[in-house]
Amino acid sequence: MTDSLTITRPDDWHLHLRDGDMLRAVLPETARHFGRAIIMPNLVPPVVTGDQAAAYRDRILAALPQGMSFAPLMTLYLTEDTDPEDVAAAHASGLVTAVKLYPAGATTNSASGVTNFDKVRPVLEKMAEIGLPLCTHGEVTDPDIDIFDREAVFIDRVLDPIRRATPGLRVVMEHITTANAADYVRSQGTVDGGDLGATITTHHLIINRNAILVGGIKPHYYCLPVAKREEHRLALRAAATSGDKRFFLGTDSAPHTDANKLSACGCAGCFTATNTMALLAHVFEEDGALDHLEGFASKHGPAFYRLPENKATLTLVKSDAPVHIPQSIATPDGPVTVFDPGFPVHWTVA
Ligand code: DOR
Ligand code: ZN
Repeated sequence: MTDSLTITRPDDWHLHLRDGDMLRAVLPETARHFGRAIIMPNLVPPVVTGDQAAAYRDRILAALPQGMSFAPLMTLYLTEDTDPEDVAAAHASGLVTAVKLYPAGATTNSASGVTNFDKVRPVLEKMAEIGLPLCTHGEVTDPDIDIFDREAVFIDRVLDPIRRATPGLRVVMEHITTANAADYVRSQGTVDGGDLGATITTHHLIINRNAILVGGIKPHYYCLPVAKREEHRLALRAAATSGDKRFFLGTDSAPHTDANKLSACGCAGCFTATNTMALLAHVFEEDGALDHLEGFASKHGPAFYRLPENKATLTLVKSDAPVHIPQSIATPDGPVTVFDPGFPVHWTVA
């Protein structure tokens, strides 16, 4: 039995840190285990310009407790008014690592996102020219499209046309939830040095849509893109644990207070920063793939983003007895519930 595993310190290639009191409460949960994270820009108002990203980065670094080391990798929120030159300058100065595409209305704070994709063509062309990756929230928002089909339809109607029209554009399909998305990634380009990668969350490896809806509605399992059928969860498990470099960890850890989750119109998001690494060890061990955990969490992401791997390490240990994971973390705005996998977990970060 493997009871200890040391890996290169992981990174989180998709994270929501929010701002203010919430930022101060959740940042240590990530910084404890992760060297870097791609920081989502869906604040209110969103982080659209280089100046806004610089100010947000300063607030994150100011919120980092003494003695913790963590590097926020900033993103810009793509709008129809985004200036390609502002994006290029933010990239050239080393400030931003990616630009985030939200279709307008797709998820939390996405009202300023894109409706007419032709309007962002100049930005996408500039990004292809300078090698700046586009992170996509891959769901269409057309009310006629069933919510469980929105990711697959996005690939056909939006993503594939954008990629064909913009050769060289580097794209990360974020938080993929379907076999369709995993298949699309594998069908395009090469394993090494290609233009297309995908992040997978911890929770989408663990829950399917039954977890949300069977035996009473479970708002803490509601996130976007919403979890799909079991066959899709299994396809995600296969992709994540395969060792294929195009798939890497992006937790999409998204804190909302219990008051905002447990409501008649509850917010989307699972908060997994606290227990992600322990849960991943469980998942990879269950699939006989512990030797691929380091690639998924610590190596494939830096390779895609053309960044060095972290120098530090992280050790996971397995105990006979289940480990205690806090049910929630306290914030001045109210408690934030930590994702409950629904099974006992024996792994913990040493
Ligand atoms: O579940 C989600 N929560 N999905 C998103 O795309 C946004 C996120 C959030 O900001 O809460
Ligand atoms: Zn997200």
